[in-house]
Amino acid sequence: MQFASGLVKDSLADYLKKLPIPDTFLGWFSLSFSDWLKLVPFMGAVGGISYVTYRQIRPTHTINPSVKKGQGKVVDTVDIEDMTADQVSYCRCWRSMKFPLCDGAHNLYNLRTGDNIGPLVVKKSS
Ligand code: FES
Repeated sequence: MQFASGLVKDSLADYLKKLPIPDTFLGWFSLSFSDWLKLVPFMGAVGGISYVTYRQIRPTHTINPSVKKGQGKVVDTVDIEDMTADQVSYCRCWRSMKFPLCDGAHNLYNLRTGDNIGPLVVKKSS
């Protein structure tokens, strides 16, 4: 543990002190090529840590839990002219086992989550 402590407190501190980080914004424009080369490992480490942190905390919630997950985008086309029923309900909760048609699964989803999702009802005009 003492080795790690010394590494962070001494070696890392010395390394950071030697980095050619300018005191002003305009100082970045006067850095030499070798100064930028010295900054590359540091910037790479900061970028890598930032990326890994972002990957851990980014929102991962998806709307679609299971419908056609192998496709890049779920698109369904319905020709209104071919509608035989007077009305058809289309799922908007993405939980229907008959997707894209509504099977009432939104009721259980709403009960579990407190949401108020319902289907899109398409009616024939009379
Ligand atoms: S089952 Fe999804 S809206 Fe009815």
